[in-house]
Amino acid sequence: MTLEEILETYSRRIQESEHPREQVVDVMYALQKQYGYLSDDALHLTAELLGMTPLEVEELATFYDFIYRKPVGRYVIHICDGVVCWMFQENSVFAYLCKTLEVEPGETTADGMFTILPSACLGYCDRAPAMLINGRLYGPLDPGNIDEILHTLRTEPGETVIDR
Ligand code: FES
Repeated sequence: MTLEEILETYSRRIQESEHPREQVVDVMYALQKQYGYLSDDALHLTAELLGMTPLEVEELATFYDFIYRKPVGRYVIHICDGVVCWMFQENSVFAYLCKTLEVEPGETTADGMFTILPSACLGYCDRAPAMLINGRLYGPLDPGNIDEILHTLRTEPGETVIDR
């Protein structure tokens, strides 16, 4: 979809909606897909479309794990930070990923390939510790399969669409 199509589609949906603000996450997400992240321009556009203040949109944008207010890498690695994953040594998985990719949580690798972010429960507790990369779940994780997953993503690039 082009930017014009996004604006047209959501303007129509907002007009037809009984509670227009219900569309805010969808609008942010659509614009994020367009820009790669929810830039300041996209945030202001969202506010304008919905008749909200930029601060109101910012509060929502920073609440949701899957709305990115800064540019992210080709792959966004959401490491589960939920209690079940913690019980299954998620902290060592997180540390291993950060060490392997040479980044801190929230950062993007120098080659722009990976961004690591902590997330609330991913709903994959029976495969803890788990992570989600561009909409695909992985688990249970250990250093061996993490290396394999990263290698596959580096050598066989797949879909780059950021998904929630
Ligand atoms: S606590 Fe990690 S997937 Fe649920």
